[in-house]
Amino acid sequence: MDLLKQLLSHTSVRKFSHDKLSPRIKDQLLCAAQSGSSSNFVQAYSIIEVTDPQKLAAIETVANGFGYIKDAGAFYVFVADLNKHAQILTQHQQSLEALKNEESFIVSVVDTTIAAQTMAVYAESIGLGICYIGGIRNDLFKMAELLELPEYTFPLFGMSVGYPGKKNEVKPRLPLEDVHQTNCYQSLSAEKIAAYDQLMEDYYAGRSANAGDADWSRKMLAHFHEPRRTHTTEFLKKQGFEF
Ligand SMILES: Cc1cc2nc3c(=O)[nH]c(=O)nc-3n(C[C@H](O)[C@H](O)[C@H](O)COP(=O)(O)O)c2cc1C
Repeated sequence: MDLLKQLLSHTSVRKFSHDKLSPRIKDQLLCAAQSGSSSNFVQAYSIIEVTDPQKLAAIETVANGFGYIKDAGAFYVFVADLNKHAQILTQHQQSLEALKNEESFIVSVVDTTIAAQTMAVYAESIGLGICYIGGIRNDLFKMAELLELPEYTFPLFGMSVGYPGKKNEVKPRLPLEDVHQTNCYQSLSAEKIAAYDQLMEDYYAGRSANAGDADWSRKMLAHFHEPRRTHTTEFLKKQGFEF
């Protein structure tokens, strides 16, 4: 399929057939992930495939999943990882100060995300479905315990990959002109928000699964109603980050 057509047909998959991915396909997915660009070539991520059924069940509980973690063809946790670099610095008696700050953390988050999205695009190109699982951050301490994560690492999100059992309709994105701006920032007007809300209301009302009464503003109001995952700062501190 034409790549743009494939990208425009992306939907998260939350129901997989029970077939596990072959070792060959899993190797390809990982190679695809590693091919992504990396800021200053720090390659600041690790990808942990979780196969232990007990750990998968525990992660499903942390993330409030409904089977789409343990029943996926493969499940990966993408870890923002500066531990490898800390080892090099320690071996050479160099200070870790520059590794513990916001800039280094952002670099590791960006590298990790690029790797994940490159894997996702490749997975979809061979007919697989994916779902990112940010829900693993509901309990960062539990995730660190389950995966034995050392200092200077952060479990950013999981990704379920597998043969789609069911695919949802594509969710309409914001109109292009609301995200593409030229030369300077342009705020979204109340009229444009209302127009997109109408589009999303129609989408939510008409979709074949989980139809309901919702729109984008209402979703965002609920999402930003109160701070989420407030243990994140404490967890980052425990992992050795200083900001
Ligand atoms: C970083 C990230 C974390 C996500 N976490 C979850 C999750 O925990 N559970 C889930 O069901 N979907 C999760 N999603 C999927 C989003 O809900 C989904 O991408 C969004 O609603 C758009 O729908 P689409 O992917 O079908 O186009 C996540 C997506 C991203 C990018």
